Amino acid sequence: MERPASVGELTETLRQGGYLADRGLATALFVSLSLQRPILLEGEVGVGKTEVAKVLAAVYGRRLIRLQCYEGIDTNQALYEWDYARQMLHIRALSEHQIADEGAVDKLFGPKFLLERPLLEAVRAGDQAVLLIDEIDRADDEFEAFLLELLSDFQISIPEIGTIRAESPPLVVLTSNRTRELHDALKRRCLYHWIGYPTAEREVQIVLVRQPGVSETLTRKVVAAVGRLRELDLAKPPGVAETIDWVRTLDFLGATGLDPQAAEDTLGAVIKERDDLDLVRDSLEEITSGA
Ligand SMILES: Nc1ncnc2c1ncn2[C@@H]1O[C@H](COP(=O)(O)OP(=O)(O)OP(=O)(O)O)[C@@H](O)[C@H]1O
Ligand SMILES: [Mg+2]
Repeated sequence: MERPASVGELTETLRQGGYLADRGLATALFVSLSLQRPILLEGEVGVGKTEVAKVLAAVYGRRLIRLQCYEGIDTNQALYEWDYARQMLHIRALSEHQIADEGAVDKLFGPKFLLERPLLEAVRAGDQAVLLIDEIDRADDEFEAFLLELLSDFQISIPEIGTIRAESPPLVVLTSNRTRELHDALKRRCLYHWIGYPTAEREVQIVLVRQPGVSETLTRKVVAAVGRLRELDLAKPPGVAETIDWVRTLDFLGATGLDPQAAEDTLGAVIKERDDLDLVRDSLEEITSGA
């Protein structure tokens, strides 16, 4: 499988895929790819944690296999499940034809009736895949413990079928928004990288990569204003995704600058919380000043 030869090469490859990684992130990803270690990405909302896994898969021609975590997720949704409905139909067909040999019953728990879920899919695909375990902090403790086991040996035992193991493990990217602390044991298995907000200069570049054609002057003004918004005590500070949305909205409306009126008219692109709106409306002058 293709791997980058240096951090610089990886940075450039990601850039071609539309993702701008700073040196810290690129280094962490480079090590993760080279040593085949899972990487845990934590960070603020909307700073590109999920996106980097998608772009990595795209630029290296790997399949993206995504496991979206949520409260109550269990192995049936994550690993595999028996196709109960098809098994029932099969049983009915068997009984209609009076077929009752042992083999026919064994087949009920064979590959034909197995529904692959993302983790099994990823073990099978091995290094042809990027496995994105998204928002692991939303899953419960037991699920995390189960993942830990999977991440340590990349093999899955299905009692009726046997053990399936990855010759060469997939690249595993875990993301978390830190709604709860993850266990040390899981963290120990992974490389860790915190993605913070990008510098203003990088954020401008990100917007220009994502929205080619928008005015750079407008972009700089919006990035400066978003920087000030992040300094306020907001419940939901805007991420990079919001910066992009705001620029796109203003550009669409034909704005060339960001005065308090234009900002107020388009706040919904960047502030998505009622209390935050009230707070921001009170200081629009300041936020757009110098913008
Ligand atoms: N470094 C970057 N280079 C290119 N695009 C970026 C970058 N960072 C963020 N983006 C853009 O921001 C959007 C949001 O990123 P993404 O969904 O990956 O954030 P996230 O950290 O997973 O957020 P959440 O915590 O809400 O899941 C992406 O669609 C992408 O367009
Ligand atoms: Mg995400």
